[in-house]
Amino acid sequence: MDIASNEDHPLRRLTLGQLRRRTSMKWRTHPEDVLPLWVAEMDVPLAAPVARALTEAIAVGDTGYPAGTAYAEALADFARERWGWDGVAVERASIVPDVMLGVVEMLRLVTGPGDPVIVSCPVYPPFYQFVTHMDRRVVEAPLGPGLRLDLAELEEAFARSTAGGGRAAYLLCSPHNPTGTVHTAEELSAVAALAETFGVRVVVDEIHAPLVTAEAAFVPYLSVPGGESGLSLMSASKAWNLAGLKAALALAGPAAAGDLARMPEEVGHGPSHLGVIAHTAALREGGRWLDAVLDDLAENRRLLAALLAEQLPAIAYQPAPGTYLAWLDCRKLGLGDDPAAAFLARGRVALSAGSEFGTGGEGHARLNLATTPEVLTEAVRRMAKAVG
Ligand SMILES: Cc1ncc(COP(=O)(O)O)c(C=O)c1O
Repeated sequence: MDIASNEDHPLRRLTLGQLRRRTSMKWRTHPEDVLPLWVAEMDVPLAAPVARALTEAIAVGDTGYPAGTAYAEALADFARERWGWDGVAVERASIVPDVMLGVVEMLRLVTGPGDPVIVSCPVYPPFYQFVTHMDRRVVEAPLGPGLRLDLAELEEAFARSTAGGGRAAYLLCSPHNPTGTVHTAEELSAVAALAETFGVRVVVDEIHAPLVTAEAAFVPYLSVPGGESGLSLMSASKAWNLAGLKAALALAGPAAAGDLARMPEEVGHGPSHLGVIAHTAALREGGRWLDAVLDDLAENRRLLAALLAEQLPAIAYQPAPGTYLAWLDCRKLGLGDDPAAAFLARGRVALSAGSEFGTGGEGHARLNLATTPEVLTEAVRRMAKAVG
């Protein structure tokens, strides 16, 4: 693969044969006859500037511990350029091993053992697993109509969680995984106002933010009125497919700087130095490659909608601009709570089981559309055959 030219249609470049040489989770969890459209890895070649930065690091043996603030500086410039937001301050940013471990560390700063952590379900399954594993309690506040944040549900959950006078946090996913919903400035401001009213601390996972199209306008939570006391996790990991190159950034709003300062220094020893190099290169030089991915994803969303309308009209799919994941409402297919199990067993297509995303996920499946049109087309053909 010529890495210099891979800014042209990154999602059209790799064959199944090339992809199957990968040894990551997406490609090694299921047997070879299964098409994997589940875990959030993209079927793209590495962006050329990232590959170059890593190759140079390897060439000089730059494989020690991470140092400095280059990642935060790169994110600050990216945020200014892409989102018109000047709010990433290096002195209020810390590197963390990855987004989920960063979430855990942020929750540790603002809650204690046994405290409630509110989530808007259905939501990314590790929100449940990591929160439970760190000895906090998950409280569900389901999404409302149109798969958007339900402020009444949130108010009720915030009130219930703080009724005894204890501490509570809201773990917000923005944009939302699995639905791809991009929260508006009004919604986020309303969340901040509710959080202020009830004394709930907001930790926001913004890992999918660079994948939001310009028209859909991602709004950083820390930028909205009242967001100053928020803690955010950002990363180049999803948008540039760098999950294997561990690194992420924890950001504090001005009023949460003291909280972030209490994070133990050792947490910053966890990210990989090569990860920090890769993420920094992605944010600094990977803009054109990302734009090309976003164009391909827009095409794939249209393709998926057309294929479903034609072959599986009983599935409800609302294309959403917040990520490369598609949330499929399969309840009318009569496949029970776990349609993904039927698609796997009868169609040899691996999707993510909706029930793992908490209340509201039953009867749904999540499909990863960051693949080639050929794979997407074949996947829907197999799904249709599985229920035909
Ligand atoms: C919402 C969300 N948060 C976190 C992660 C995982 O990020 P990391 O590998 O940096 O922990 C994912 C991965 O898909 C995700 O979708």
